[in-house]
Amino acid sequence: RREEISQHTLALQRAQDLYQQQLRKSPEAIAYLKKRGLTGEIAKQFGLGWASADRQALSTVFSPYSDPILVESGLVIQSDDGRRYDRFRERVMFPIRNTKGELVGFGGRIIGKGEPKYLNSPETPVFSKGQELYGLFEAKAAIRKEACIIVVEGYMDVVGLAQLGVGNAVATLGTATTPMHIQKLLRSSDRIIFSFDGDKAGRRAAWRALQTCLPLLRDDISIRFLFLPEEHDPDSYIRQFGAEAFRECIKESDALSTFFLNELADRFPLKEVEGRSRLVFEAKPLLAQIPQSAVKVQLHNELAKMVQLTPEELTNLLVSAPAMDD
Ligand code: GTP
Ligand code: MN
Ligand code: MN
Ligand code: MN
Ligand code: MN
Repeated sequence: RREEISQHTLALQRAQDLYQQQLRKSPEAIAYLKKRGLTGEIAKQFGLGWASADRQALSTVFSPYSDPILVESGLVIQSDDGRRYDRFRERVMFPIRNTKGELVGFGGRIIGKGEPKYLNSPETPVFSKGQELYGLFEAKAAIRKEACIIVVEGYMDVVGLAQLGVGNAVATLGTATTPMHIQKLLRSSDRIIFSFDGDKAGRRAAWRALQTCLPLLRDDISIRFLFLPEEHDPDSYIRQFGAEAFRECIKESDALSTFFLNELADRFPLKEVEGRSRLVFEAKPLLAQIPQSAVKVQLHNELAKMVQLTPEELTNLLVSAPAMDD
């Protein structure tokens, strides 16, 4: 397994060297990064690169180009008729490292029009999107210093925040937050702040992240949620309003308990008996996932208040009400 990792990492590293070299020679890509507010220094810090339009650019650094490791590591695609070509072309390259700093994959952003906007390395023996967090290796020192981790949606959020001095952000790789992600995050810090895009999709992602956190809740950790204005993501927000304003938003972020209670309260008409009853029904499987803790007891009591029951009445309902699959 170690051997497999090092074989993949070596191939990816060789590609990475080429992508970085190509970035230095591409005025178009450099102009794009500048337009997005990034300096050469931050590009270097994150190892940003450029995959050129050449369909077999990697053949200049790999011989033979038919080496199976190229396909296995996701750098090269083999079509049904056996022809091979580079997966990443005309894209800004974001190298993805594991917590040890080993290169395990890439994300690539198109800079003009076209689909998909982002292309990731495929799942490989060393790369699994449900496990990796972009920027975690790079953010280590800042996470220790700030004693917290900010979780964002996108590569550009991580790099854009770092550019303006907020270095403790990491991103999921276009997937939902998994239990494995949360475990990894909690190993790096006991304070997590989710800051997804301000749009509907971001809010839904936050609610799903909350649900994923429930089985891992403890009284000695802090999980918060920052909701940005509708049209913003962390990168666009910090670019427009500055680091101070972003840090202010962090301070005013919602505790998990607040988001939990507000979201449930928003969903059902609490003025009606039926609305309050429905809330109990929906909250049951969520509460059930939380390990016994002070936070669980208090959420229970707050919910009871919200639905105009005593805590004991709510307890009785929760043991007898039918479970709902989620
Ligand atoms: P910018 O437009 O560069 O600012 O990107 P963004 O990070 O704000 O993009 P967006 O909010 O649309 O998406 C967030 C993250 O989801 C991205 O960083 C990617 O990881 C992922 N993502 C977005 N679009 C695609 C796509 O077309 N394909 C894949 N595989 N992932 C995507
Ligand atoms: Mn999108
Ligand atoms: Mn989005
Ligand atoms: Mn963005
Ligand atoms: Mn975004």
